[in-house]
Amino acid sequence: MMKLLLVVCVAVVSLTSGAVVRPTNRSSLSVGYITNGDRLLHRQYLNKQPVPNAVQYQDFIFRGNATTRIAALTATEIGYSQNAYPWITSGGVGYNYATVRVQSARGLGYYYVIDVWGR
Ligand SMILES: *[C@@H]1O[C@H](CO)[C@@H](O)[C@H](O)[C@H]1NC(C)=O
Ligand SMILES: *[C@@H]1O[C@H](CO)[C@@H](O)[C@H](O)[C@H]1NC(C)=O
Repeated sequence: MMKLLLVVCVAVVSLTSGAVVRPTNRSSLSVGYITNGDRLLHRQYLNKQPVPNAVQYQDFIFRGNATTRIAALTATEIGYSQNAYPWITSGGVGYNYATVRVQSARGLGYYYVIDVWGR
């Protein structure tokens, strides 16, 4: 009886640890180069909590004025990696606007800081 109980306990523990999602890939975005005269034009944090079985996404949109030139753009994951993906869907380096889409892995969230550098 004691032995059976022990086996059940071990099975439960291993099932639980097997279900823990442990992403190993940090997915950040970094394009362009910051040179003298460039400054941080915009910083924004994008954060979503995990939703079971859902893929979540969000568009970050930056619009400068007529003379704005984006020199560099970064989307850096904060904290532990959740295997989300940031990518540029329009504009970017050399443009005065940029759209960055951030998409979560299924069942996970994300936490990014997006920086737009330029002049
Ligand atoms: C990280 O992601 C790349 C591209 O999706 C993949 O080829 C690689 O195997 C991943 N590395 C790990 C440790 O999961
Ligand atoms: C246009 O945007 C740049 C930053 O990209 C800023 O330095 C400049 O002052 C802005 N010009 C006007 C007319 O608002």
